[in-house]
Amino acid sequence: MYPYDAPYIPTPIEVVRAMLRVAELRPDDVLIDLGCGDGRIVVEAARLHGVRAIGVDLDENLLACARASARTAGVEGLVSFRCGNLLEADLSEASVVMLYMLTEVNLRLRPRLVAMPAGTRIVAHRFGMGEWEPERFWMLGTAPILRWRVTGEEDLPGTKPFTTPGSADRCDCPTDHPARQHDSPFIHEEQP
Ligand SMILES: C[S@@+](CC[C@H](N)C(=O)[O-])C[C@H]1O[C@@H](n2cnc3c(N)ncnc32)[C@H](O)[C@@H]1O
Repeated sequence: MYPYDAPYIPTPIEVVRAMLRVAELRPDDVLIDLGCGDGRIVVEAARLHGVRAIGVDLDENLLACARASARTAGVEGLVSFRCGNLLEADLSEASVVMLYMLTEVNLRLRPRLVAMPAGTRIVAHRFGMGEWEPERFWMLGTAPILRWRVTGEEDLPGTKPFTTPGSADRCDCPTDHPARQHDSPFIHEEQP
């Protein structure tokens, strides 16, 4: 059986950097990218923000690229890459979760994410989390970036999506959603 829950489509590097900015990383954070692909989010988190970062993916070839990229960037001491199913990944060390997965996968992860300690930030590229609405979201060009912050008081009885299925860019955030941030300083800052 095909084990992958989403194809490999890398997040553009400028979107990666914006995702890291909106995650509001602190030195003691540990970031995990669930379905890390070539490790770009993990490596950039360590390289630009100096945080520990973990990548999980099923694809050994992509994990080999990720490890090589960490070596090139000189951040081997801060990062680790694990081969495994993201739906079963150990989240116990993480304080920041990065996602570029389909909504249906995010929804399967959601009960575990909601149960993470209060203050945990979850940053997703493009796809949402059903009726768990993002605290904030931004558009970087055509790329939606969504952020949740676990409060410990989430009340999510059902799985009714707040989506606009079939919208042109597959974004499941209505562009008029109140959480949308316009003219975000994170997005428009000069990139390092
Ligand atoms: C859309 S790509 C995102 C890659 C990276 N996070 C990024 O944003 O550039 C999705 C990744 O998830 C991985 N993947 C899909 N299903 C998975 C699963 N069940 N467990 C672990 N990794 C998975 C794929 O191999 C792929 O690398």
